[in-house]
Amino acid sequence: MGDEAIQATNDDAASCKRFAIQQGYWRDPYLQFLVKAAERKAPEINRGYYVRTHGIKYLLEDFIKKTESNCQIISLGAGFDTLFWRLKDEGLLPKTYVELDFRAVTSRKCYYIKSRSQLLDPLMESCDGVKNKISIENAELHSPRYHIMTADLRDVADVESKLTEAGIDKNLPTVFISECVLVYMTVQKSSDLLKWIGDSFPTVLYINYEQVNMADRFGQVMQQNLRSRHCELHGVDACASMDTQKNRFLSVGWEGADAMDMMCVYHKLPPADIHRIERLEFLDELELLQQLFQHYCICWAYKDKANIGLSSIGFA
Ligand SMILES: C[S@@+](CC[C@H](N)C(=O)[O-])C[C@H]1O[C@@H](n2cnc3c(N)ncnc32)[C@H](O)[C@@H]1O
Repeated sequence: MGDEAIQATNDDAASCKRFAIQQGYWRDPYLQFLVKAAERKAPEINRGYYVRTHGIKYLLEDFIKKTESNCQIISLGAGFDTLFWRLKDEGLLPKTYVELDFRAVTSRKCYYIKSRSQLLDPLMESCDGVKNKISIENAELHSPRYHIMTADLRDVADVESKLTEAGIDKNLPTVFISECVLVYMTVQKSSDLLKWIGDSFPTVLYINYEQVNMADRFGQVMQQNLRSRHCELHGVDACASMDTQKNRFLSVGWEGADAMDMMCVYHKLPPADIHRIERLEFLDELELLQQLFQHYCICWAYKDKANIGLSSIGFA
């Protein structure tokens, strides 16, 4: 699979998110400025994106609150994610927020930000009323808190040099996020990256959303479908089970790891939320929803040198 096909997965994710937002699953006034209105998607896909977005944000907010925002967020393979703007609206911004992705993706994101005031203006607002300086060039964006940078995540030296350039302080509590990203690189490459993160950041949380149970029949069919669209999951061996997902961290020195499939995450939603989203669209194929949700998971892992309570992060 070429890098172009990997980059195209961002368009897929962004348009699915856009459609789910249009249907009222969650509020995001920003994604519409990065991706055109999307074609209809199946209700189980929309519900899946809701639980994914909600689940990641739930763990992330726990981390931000534990660190009282004295922390950093690094989003790997961020694509057209709008989390920075949404956290800003909620007063939950960290000290530094860095996104890394391929140049082909960051250049388009930078272009849209530069040309849409709805995206650009919030980046210029600072706490003291003086406008922030922003530089957008060479497919990268730099502002005091928010950086979008190009990097190939398979190249740890590249990742390290970009994070240094963004001013990342390895001693500050840091959370890494990836959503369907590691699966596109070989297990050796993702393992090198996770080892480097664990070795370099003493107080760190990693939140990974990705496929799981991929060795069963449903998983095999999923892989065949993707392959027919020239999309090879090189890292699928790490997605065989919840244990393989956790072990990819534990085997390279992380202190603790936990994982939950999306069916379980769904049942952890507040009952009022479940009631609301189940009324948005009629879903007659509950079995398909269940199968789909059992083939994705959120895995989170930590190292907690500063002892700030990272082991207690999880779904209550
Ligand atoms: C499925 S998309 C997800 C985008 C975003 N995280 C989301 O959930 O909406 C995967 C993203 O990871 C990026 N990606 C995958 N492998 C990468 C690599 N080796 N280096 C940089 N970016 C990568 C792709 O370009 C793409 O934007």
